[in-house]
Amino acid sequence: MDTTLDTHKTPKRQTLLPVTVRRLVLTGFMGAGKSTIGRLLADRIGWNFLDLDSHLEQRTGSTIPQLFAIHGEAQFRRLESTALASALGRSYTVLALGGGAPEELTNRLLLEQTPDTFTIFLDAPFPTLFDRCMLQNIARPVLEDPVAAQLRFTRRHPIYSRLARLTIETADLTPEQTVEAVLTALNQTPHSRT
Ligand code: S3P
Repeated sequence: MDTTLDTHKTPKRQTLLPVTVRRLVLTGFMGAGKSTIGRLLADRIGWNFLDLDSHLEQRTGSTIPQLFAIHGEAQFRRLESTALASALGRSYTVLALGGGAPEELTNRLLLEQTPDTFTIFLDAPFPTLFDRCMLQNIARPVLEDPVAAQLRFTRRHPIYSRLARLTIETADLTPEQTVEAVLTALNQTPHSRT
Protein backbone atom coordinates (compact mmCIF):
# COMPACT_ATOMS: atom_id res chain seq x y z
CA MET A 1 0.00 0.00 0.00
CA ASP A 2 1.29 3.45 -0.84
CA THR A 3 1.05 5.27 2.46
CA THR A 4 2.35 8.54 1.12
CA LEU A 5 -0.46 9.53 -1.24
CA ASP A 6 -2.23 12.66 -0.15
CA THR A 7 -5.76 12.14 -1.34
CA HIS A 8 -7.21 14.89 0.87
CA LYS A 9 -9.99 12.70 2.18
CA THR A 10 -13.00 14.45 3.59
CA PRO A 11 -13.30 13.28 7.18
CA LYS A 12 -16.16 10.78 7.48
CA ARG A 13 -16.53 11.04 11.23
CA GLN A 14 -15.16 14.43 12.11
CA THR A 15 -17.64 14.60 14.99
CA LEU A 16 -15.47 12.06 16.81
CA LEU A 17 -12.70 14.61 17.05
CA PRO A 18 -12.51 18.23 18.10
CA VAL A 19 -12.79 20.40 14.99
CA THR A 20 -9.51 22.13 15.79
CA VAL A 21 -7.44 18.93 15.44
CA ARG A 22 -6.27 18.29 11.88
CA ARG A 23 -3.23 16.09 12.49
CA LEU A 24 -2.85 13.24 14.94
CA VAL A 25 0.76 12.22 15.46
CA LEU A 26 1.72 8.90 17.03
CA THR A 27 5.01 8.70 18.85
CA GLY A 28 6.79 6.06 20.92
CA PHE A 29 9.64 3.61 20.72
CA MET A 30 10.04 0.95 18.02
CA GLY A 31 7.40 -1.75 18.54
CA ALA A 32 4.91 0.68 20.08
CA GLY A 33 2.44 -0.03 17.27
CA LYS A 34 2.55 3.46 15.75
CA SER A 35 1.97 2.23 12.18
CA THR A 36 -0.58 -0.47 13.04
CA ILE A 37 -2.59 1.78 15.34
CA GLY A 38 -2.18 4.71 12.96
CA ARG A 39 -3.74 2.83 10.05
CA LEU A 40 -6.64 1.59 12.19
CA LEU A 41 -7.21 5.01 13.71
CA ALA A 42 -7.14 6.75 10.33
CA ASP A 43 -9.63 4.25 9.01
CA ARG A 44 -11.95 4.81 12.00
CA ILE A 45 -12.06 8.57 11.57
CA GLY A 46 -11.88 8.64 7.77
CA TRP A 47 -8.51 10.39 7.60
CA ASN A 48 -5.36 9.66 5.61
CA PHE A 49 -2.55 7.67 7.14
CA LEU A 50 1.11 8.53 6.65
CA ASP A 51 4.07 6.58 7.95
CA LEU A 52 7.12 8.85 8.29
CA ASP A 53 9.59 6.04 7.53
CA SER A 54 7.70 5.16 4.31
CA HIS A 55 7.44 8.84 3.40
CA LEU A 56 11.19 9.20 3.84
CA GLU A 57 11.89 6.05 1.83
CA GLN A 58 9.73 7.32 -0.99
CA ARG A 59 11.35 10.76 -0.97
CA THR A 60 14.90 9.37 -1.03
CA GLY A 61 14.38 6.19 -3.06
CA SER A 62 16.32 4.25 -0.39
CA THR A 63 15.25 1.97 2.43
CA ILE A 64 15.85 2.95 6.07
CA PRO A 65 18.71 0.39 6.45
CA GLN A 66 20.27 1.71 3.22
CA LEU A 67 20.09 5.30 4.51
CA PHE A 68 21.82 4.28 7.75
CA ALA A 69 24.43 2.21 5.92
CA ILE A 70 25.23 4.75 3.19
CA HIS A 71 24.92 8.06 5.04
CA GLY A 72 25.13 7.20 8.75
CA GLU A 73 22.63 8.05 11.49
CA ALA A 74 23.34 11.81 11.61
CA GLN A 75 22.42 12.27 7.95
CA PHE A 76 19.45 9.93 8.37
CA ARG A 77 18.18 12.27 11.10
CA ARG A 78 18.54 15.32 8.82
CA LEU A 79 16.58 13.58 6.07
CA GLU A 80 13.99 12.49 8.63
CA SER A 81 13.52 16.12 9.71
CA THR A 82 12.85 17.32 6.16
CA ALA A 83 10.42 14.44 5.65
CA LEU A 84 8.65 15.44 8.88
CA ALA A 85 8.34 19.07 7.79
CA SER A 86 6.80 17.87 4.54
CA ALA A 87 4.46 15.43 6.31
CA LEU A 88 3.17 18.12 8.65
CA GLY A 89 1.94 20.06 5.64
CA ARG A 90 -0.94 17.60 5.34
CA SER A 91 -4.31 17.91 6.99
CA TYR A 92 -6.71 15.23 8.20
CA THR A 93 -3.78 12.89 8.54
CA VAL A 94 -2.70 10.39 11.16
CA LEU A 95 1.10 10.45 11.12
CA ALA A 96 3.21 7.62 12.59
CA LEU A 97 6.65 8.97 13.50
CA GLY A 98 9.85 6.93 13.49
CA GLY A 99 10.87 6.06 17.05
CA GLY A 100 13.88 8.38 17.04
CA ALA A 101 12.28 11.46 15.49
CA PRO A 102 11.38 13.20 18.80
CA GLU A 103 15.01 13.10 19.96
CA GLU A 104 15.80 15.94 17.54
CA LEU A 105 14.96 19.38 18.89
CA THR A 106 14.07 20.55 15.37
CA ASN A 107 11.44 17.84 15.14
CA ARG A 108 9.97 18.61 18.55
CA LEU A 109 9.68 22.27 17.60
CA LEU A 110 8.05 21.35 14.30
CA LEU A 111 5.53 19.17 16.11
CA GLU A 112 4.80 21.72 18.83
CA GLN A 113 4.55 24.69 16.49
CA THR A 114 2.46 23.19 13.70
CA PRO A 115 -1.10 24.33 14.46
CA ASP A 116 -3.93 21.86 15.06
CA THR A 117 -1.47 19.05 15.69
CA PHE A 118 -2.05 16.62 18.55
CA THR A 119 0.66 14.15 19.58
CA ILE A 120 -0.08 10.85 21.29
CA PHE A 121 2.53 8.65 23.02
CA LEU A 122 1.95 4.91 22.70
CA ASP A 123 3.82 3.56 25.72
CA ALA A 124 4.88 0.08 26.83
CA PRO A 125 7.81 -1.34 28.84
CA PHE A 126 11.05 -1.97 26.97
CA PRO A 127 10.89 -5.81 27.15
CA THR A 128 7.39 -5.78 25.60
CA LEU A 129 8.54 -3.46 22.82
CA PHE A 130 11.68 -5.46 22.16
CA ASP A 131 9.74 -8.75 21.97
CA ARG A 132 7.21 -7.20 19.58
CA CYS A 133 10.05 -5.99 17.34
CA MET A 134 11.63 -9.44 17.31
CA LEU A 135 8.34 -10.87 16.00
CA GLN A 136 8.22 -8.34 13.15
CA ASN A 137 10.01 -8.68 9.87
CA ILE A 138 11.23 -5.07 9.83
CA ALA A 139 14.92 -4.18 9.48
CA ARG A 140 15.77 -1.70 12.25
CA PRO A 141 19.45 -0.70 12.36
CA VAL A 142 19.24 0.81 15.84
CA LEU A 143 18.00 -2.48 17.31
CA GLU A 144 21.08 -4.42 16.31
CA ASP A 145 22.62 -3.87 19.74
CA PRO A 146 19.93 -4.63 22.40
CA VAL A 147 21.87 -2.97 25.24
CA ALA A 148 22.26 0.24 23.24
CA ALA A 149 18.57 0.00 22.28
CA GLN A 150 17.56 -0.14 25.95
CA LEU A 151 19.68 2.93 26.64
CA ARG A 152 17.96 4.74 23.78
CA PHE A 153 14.60 3.76 25.28
CA THR A 154 15.58 5.14 28.70
CA ARG A 155 16.83 8.38 27.15
CA ARG A 156 13.79 8.85 24.94
CA HIS A 157 11.01 7.91 27.35
CA PRO A 158 10.78 11.31 29.10
CA ILE A 159 11.04 13.04 25.72
CA TYR A 160 8.01 11.14 24.37
CA SER A 161 6.08 11.90 27.59
CA ARG A 162 6.81 15.61 27.49
CA LEU A 163 6.07 15.96 23.79
CA ALA A 164 2.73 14.17 23.84
CA ARG A 165 -0.57 15.64 25.00
CA LEU A 166 -1.85 12.12 25.67
CA THR A 167 -0.15 8.88 26.75
CA ILE A 168 -1.77 5.49 26.21
CA GLU A 169 -0.38 2.40 27.94
CA THR A 170 -0.60 -0.29 25.28
CA ALA A 171 1.07 -3.33 26.88
CA ASP A 172 -2.22 -5.08 27.73
CA LEU A 173 -4.28 -3.79 24.82
CA THR A 174 -4.97 -5.17 21.36
CA PRO A 175 -4.55 -2.69 18.49
CA GLU A 176 -8.34 -2.28 18.31
CA GLN A 177 -8.54 -1.62 22.06
CA THR A 178 -5.75 0.91 21.73
CA VAL A 179 -7.69 2.78 19.04
CA GLU A 180 -10.76 2.84 21.31
CA ALA A 181 -8.63 4.12 24.17
CA VAL A 182 -7.20 6.87 21.96
CA LEU A 183 -10.64 7.98 20.74
CA THR A 184 -12.13 7.93 24.23
CA ALA A 185 -9.22 9.89 25.68
CA LEU A 186 -9.26 12.41 22.83
CA ASN A 187 -12.86 13.23 23.55
CA GLN A 188 -12.06 13.81 27.22
CA THR A 189 -8.93 15.91 26.68
CA PRO A 190 -9.02 19.68 26.65
CA HIS A 191 -7.58 20.72 23.31
CA SER A 192 -6.28 24.15 24.02
CA ARG A 193 -2.70 24.56 25.24
CA THR A 194 -3.61 27.68 27.17
C1 S3P B 1 14.26 4.31 14.53
C2 S3P B 1 12.99 3.82 14.40
C3 S3P B 1 12.46 3.36 13.12
C4 S3P B 1 13.18 4.04 11.95
C5 S3P B 1 14.65 3.87 12.07
C6 S3P B 1 15.19 4.47 13.38
C7 S3P B 1 14.71 4.75 15.88
O1 S3P B 1 11.07 3.63 13.04
O2 S3P B 1 12.85 5.40 11.89
O3 S3P B 1 14.96 2.50 11.98
O4 S3P B 1 15.77 5.41 15.98
O5 S3P B 1 14.01 4.42 16.88
P1 S3P B 1 9.95 2.76 13.85
O6 S3P B 1 9.85 3.35 15.22
O7 S3P B 1 8.72 2.98 13.04
O8 S3P B 1 10.41 1.35 13.84
